[in-house]
Amino acid sequence: MAVERTLSILKPDATERNLTGKINAVIEGAGLRIIAQKRVKWDAGDAASFYAVHKARPFYNDLVTYMTSAPIVVQVLEGENAVAKYREIMGATNPENAADGTIRKLFAENIERNSVHGSDSADNAAQEIGLVFQESEIVG
Ligand code: PPS
Repeated sequence: MAVERTLSILKPDATERNLTGKINAVIEGAGLRIIAQKRVKWDAGDAASFYAVHKARPFYNDLVTYMTSAPIVVQVLEGENAVAKYREIMGATNPENAADGTIRKLFAENIERNSVHGSDSADNAAQEIGLVFQESEIVG
């Protein structure tokens, strides 16, 4: 298995409820290393760029509004099979469908306030990491 990097976001519902440490404990407990991390507040342009792929979806405006409603924590995670491994420990997008022990089952409130984002492919991870981090901010 290859060592990969993936982009993680701890969403506004997570930062508002002071869950950064608890979510990071799940991430690190699964063997993923947090090799970059910063707390930022996105404006509408930041969120629109990041979620451009979802522009046609009915929830797009709500998603942009939500992701700009409070600070978020952006992270680069590294480990074997990191993209798929993080998607697995995040759990299903809708927490009602998330498996026991996953981050969304443990912490998410609903399909919008679902606590975390993780890249869905290695190619998208590279693109998302490039949008959010300078190479000098990533210390592997
Ligand atoms: S996924 O994880 O990309 O396969 O999920 P997807 O269903 O394609 O959803 C893409 C992102 O949109 C968010 N989402 C929603 N936000 C608000 N309202 C509704 N109904 C909704 N449905 C999906 C979902 O959490 C995904 O956000 P990210 O940040 O990519 O995880």
